[in-house]
Amino acid sequence: MAEPKFAPSILSADFARLADAVKAAEQAGADWVHVDVMDGHFVPNLTFGPKMVADLHKATRLPLDVHLMIDRPEDWVDRYASAGATYLTIHVEASNDVPGTLQAIRSRGVRPGITLNPETGVDAVLPHLGAVDLVLVMSVRPGFGGQKFIEGSLDKVRAIRAALDQRRLAVELEVDGGIKPNNAARVAAAGATVLVAGSAIYEDPDGPVAALAKFKRAVLG
Ligand code: DX5
Ligand code: ZN
Repeated sequence: MAEPKFAPSILSADFARLADAVKAAEQAGADWVHVDVMDGHFVPNLTFGPKMVADLHKATRLPLDVHLMIDRPEDWVDRYASAGATYLTIHVEASNDVPGTLQAIRSRGVRPGITLNPETGVDAVLPHLGAVDLVLVMSVRPGFGGQKFIEGSLDKVRAIRAALDQRRLAVELEVDGGIKPNNAARVAAAGATVLVAGSAIYEDPDGPVAALAKFKRAVLG
């Protein structure tokens, strides 16, 4: 098992000090920064817009992994692409035109991703595997940090891993929600290549740099 990439979610960081949060992620050896965009409609919470992504893009050299928890993501592709998103991930439940939206993302030079809620079966994303650079398995109901990992998500990770391998697709398989040092190795062993963690990084009393070191120790064994 190769070491997974780590994508700290700034959802659990101090929103008044986000530049410090991304600097800490860099210092800790994070691979990406995970940016949770919420619109108060698709999920019952509100966070960032395109200007925040543009400002974060100026503040860090790390790739910005933008998770759009918004209705009608097709209406926002241009603005998030212009803001400097590296990956732009849409929910399969949120768009009337998933293939067209993924294509629009790619045509803007951004890496398209697809994700699914815990209630949604993997069959919803399988038709899109050939059109994406990333599949994100939500292991909590989206909207808030600090929730408990849904164990049934591991079966979804295994099923998507098998489908990607069978089709020889080099697509990142990311898992988001409730990931801690004590379950990270199991998630990676199920086939994930990218682990998102919010509260376990930014609410660790030892600080984000020490927190990410705990994750790395946990997955290296
Ligand atoms: C939930 C977000 C997650 C969240 C993860 O809607 O998509 O990225 O920040 O937070 P933790 O790691 O605390 O579950
Ligand atoms: Zn997320």
